[in-house]
Amino acid sequence: MTQMKIRNLDDLRKLRESSRDLSSARSGGETMIIVGMGTCGIAAGARDVLSEVMAELARRNIDNVAVQTTGCIGMCQDEPLLDVIRGGQRVTYGRVKPEDVPTIIAEHVVNGRVVEKLAIGRAD
Ligand code: FES
Repeated sequence: MTQMKIRNLDDLRKLRESSRDLSSARSGGETMIIVGMGTCGIAAGARDVLSEVMAELARRNIDNVAVQTTGCIGMCQDEPLLDVIRGGQRVTYGRVKPEDVPTIIAEHVVNGRVVEKLAIGRAD
């Protein structure tokens, strides 16, 4: 979930929508990719990872996967972090390079197979 300052009603609506997306993905209704865009993530190359996520989804004509960003979660050493929520399970990938993104999307997002060599955590 993107961290944002709430300045007006529109901001509050956007926050509510993004929370709803996340809950729906967690309950298994939707596949979601979340990229950590905290300071440490950006310093470690998260912008390029996010760009590659968007590019790869476009190349594959995948339009039913939600993409979100999140802030710092206290795991600087493993940034860039990329989470995939699919089938109600959340898997965290660490030290993700842009060149890893097509594999994560092909294996996990499309075929439901976790890319074990890059996975650093999971939650059901
Ligand atoms: S800035 Fe990296 S863990 Fe907070």
